[in-house]
Amino acid sequence: MPSELTWLGHGSWSIRTAEHAVLLDPFLDDSPVAPVKAADVDADFILVSHGHFDHMADVEKIARRTGATIVSNFEICQWYGAKGLENTHAMNLGGGFDFPFGRVKLTIAHHTSMLPDGANGGNPAGFVVSLPEGNVYFACDTGLFYDMKLIGACGLALAALPIGDNFTMGPDDALEALKLLHPKRVVPVHTGTWPIIDQDVETWADRVLKETSTEPLVISPGAAISL
Ligand code: NI
Ligand code: MN
Repeated sequence: MPSELTWLGHGSWSIRTAEHAVLLDPFLDDSPVAPVKAADVDADFILVSHGHFDHMADVEKIARRTGATIVSNFEICQWYGAKGLENTHAMNLGGGFDFPFGRVKLTIAHHTSMLPDGANGGNPAGFVVSLPEGNVYFACDTGLFYDMKLIGACGLALAALPIGDNFTMGPDDALEALKLLHPKRVVPVHTGTWPIIDQDVETWADRVLKETSTEPLVISPGAAISL
């Protein structure tokens, strides 16, 4: 069975490989657009990019129910450890590790990462997840940075880029990002959740088609992509 990626709205993803269920930045119960609730998702691993509520609000309850391993930066793993969630795998920027579902590498992200209680959430990250079918770059919350050129050098089957503006890259910078990353396909995320980050995704997708060699995928929360 090929790996399947389901967008759960905002910056949340469910990744299904032949044998594993991986969640990325689950924000479900309080998300106005999530197609599922935290009680209904499966997970062996949960990747957490940074400490903001709209990326980690449901991590604790899902990890407690499923026993999933939390994969994040050192500070966020420590924070969950102090809550008694000791099944964590701490990493840091630039580091990669071969998990049973594939290799995960933490990439830089220009953003912040304070945890909801004010604790230091370390540095925010993006992820390159190497699945059997190809490499997927989840930029997570970030502004544009020129080092995306290096991230793209590994060859990307898919990129999930924020286009919402205000808190992250907006449509113009996300287009510039594609010119550095050169992924085969792109999904715009971190938009449509709240009015402040609403963008016209169809117009953006048209620009992607005209100005880059990447294929844009405009999908609704709950839709799945086969790699
Ligand atoms: Ni954030
Ligand atoms: Mn966010």
